[in-house]
Amino acid sequence: MPRALEGKIAVITGASSGIGAACALEMARAGMDIALVARRADRLERMAAEVRAIGRRAASIVADVAESGHERQVLDSAQQQLGPVDVVFSNAGYGQDRAVLDMEESELRAMFETNFFSSVSLLRESARRMIERRQGGHLLMCSSVVAKFAIPRMGAYSASKAAQAMVCRAMRTELEPHGIAVSSVHPVTTRTEFFQQSARRSGREAAEQVPAHAPRLFVQPPERVARAVVACLRRPCPEVWTSHLVRLSAALFTAFPGLLDPVLRRTHAADLGDPARGA
Ligand SMILES: NC(=O)c1ccc[n+]([C@@H]2O[C@H](COP(=O)([O-])OP(=O)(O)OC[C@H]3O[C@@H](n4cnc5c(N)ncnc54)[C@H](OP(=O)(O)O)[C@@H]3O)[C@@H](O)[C@H]2O)c1
Repeated sequence: MPRALEGKIAVITGASSGIGAACALEMARAGMDIALVARRADRLERMAAEVRAIGRRAASIVADVAESGHERQVLDSAQQQLGPVDVVFSNAGYGQDRAVLDMEESELRAMFETNFFSSVSLLRESARRMIERRQGGHLLMCSSVVAKFAIPRMGAYSASKAAQAMVCRAMRTELEPHGIAVSSVHPVTTRTEFFQQSARRSGREAAEQVPAHAPRLFVQPPERVARAVVACLRRPCPEVWTSHLVRLSAALFTAFPGLLDPVLRRTHAADLGDPARGA
């Protein structure tokens, strides 16, 4: 039997744009009430109005997930405004388009703070509250396809996404006895603000919404991810994928990492430069 979503309450971080915003609308269409979390208040208000226009309740919670203690602030505020939380999607995150060697240590740590530690803190606190309430629930993290194979200039980001996927695997079996499902979400290249933000953080302006090296066959809109996430809420599964072909390729490259290297050297030739020139 699929789980009924009507009247359930969801918290979504990173709900001011992209995948989080699309998920908020798709969950609202499925009958859920949504607590929207991000730093840009104006964007959140706009999203909240869209959720209400669908006929569901919405709460905007302005929070920086990189700040310690944000998880209690977010969950307290969601509960006060909407009621006890059934679903938490830790989706806020960012990338940086830089070789591992070119990143400052502080940048590496900041990326893990937002992408990994904040997700773990939010899901841990959510799980504690769900266990106390004895009603079960569903916890999700937005990982990525690059959790399974890293690509050049996204090594630190890929590592943070792999860490998310691994912690979800462990939490899934740990929380199963409490009726709490845990899923990691693995989008392929998705048309959002992600790559432009990523380029900006790396001191460049990105003209394109998705990078030139991304195979156009696998570029998807955020609504595709949102539909897959809602399907997973109805029938919980360990991992959410939006491309069978990419999922199979990821399995192959995990088993045989050397197979991918020549492909990446070709697709990322411009980024990799010529070591002889010190580029
Ligand atoms: N786009 C892709 O191709 C792709 C592929 C695989 C996985 N993903 C993952 O999908 C998730 C969503 O990314 P997206 O593609 O939708 O990119 P996006 O459009 O740039 O959205 C990122 C969201 O995260 C929020 N955010 C970032 N840092 C935050 C912080 N410190 N505190 C609170 N909120 C923060 C942003 O909101 P504010 O700026 O308003 O705070 C924004 O709502 C990320 O975890 C990303 O790693 C993306």
